[in-house]
Amino acid sequence: MSNKEMKGAAYWDDRFQAPAYAYGEAPNDFLQWAAPQVKLGKAVSLCEGEGRNAVFLAKMGFEVTAVDFSRVGLNKAKALADLHKVTLNYEVADMKDFELENNAWDLVVSVFAQPDADIRQRLYARLGQSLKPGGAFILESKVNGESTAANRYPGVDTLIQDIQPLKVAFSKQGERELNEGSYHVGLHTTAQILAFKNA
Ligand SMILES: C[S@@+](CC[C@H](N)C(=O)[O-])C[C@H]1O[C@@H](n2cnc3c(N)ncnc32)[C@H](O)[C@@H]1O
Repeated sequence: MSNKEMKGAAYWDDRFQAPAYAYGEAPNDFLQWAAPQVKLGKAVSLCEGEGRNAVFLAKMGFEVTAVDFSRVGLNKAKALADLHKVTLNYEVADMKDFELENNAWDLVVSVFAQPDADIRQRLYARLGQSLKPGGAFILESKVNGESTAANRYPGVDTLIQDIQPLKVAFSKQGERELNEGSYHVGLHTTAQILAFKNA
């Protein structure tokens, strides 16, 4: 088990203490490609961290809730939102307790969230109920090792199973160059998904 798996919010608070944004201030590029394909409305970004993706969505016109268990991360998200003159809703929550409520969201985003497998399966199994008709799910996550349900870094095939009954509009797994802050740099294997609930 890695340090990251053993440690909770304190680990991430410590990482986010540095003034620089750990994953940069620019949004994830898969999100930049996928989000314009989703109708505007209420969006929630799971494990949002320091706000780069939430701010991007707010600038597009989504009403965004940023959820993370790192208060330090969400404080930096607030600073980034202020800089860009947008407003976000903030929720400090551990994904193990977080509830995706029924018929609540037009967009659920999970960019490099990598929750523990049991948490991921519980949350993603709720997507079909929690998205409004025509709502979307956008994911990018790191892939590592065998794609089993128990893996925290599963492949796109396992993730597609987890998000049933959403309809997958785009999915891809492959090695790509990341250039996000100082922590996501260089070649990584990732899974990308854009999926919709039936309208
Ligand atoms: C790799 S960072 C990605 C941050 C952000 N999504 C991005 O792409 O810039 C992972 C994030 O997940 C959050 N996180 C990890 N486990 C969590 C949990 N159980 N509940 C809530 N947040 C969690 C961390 O605080 C951190 O912000």
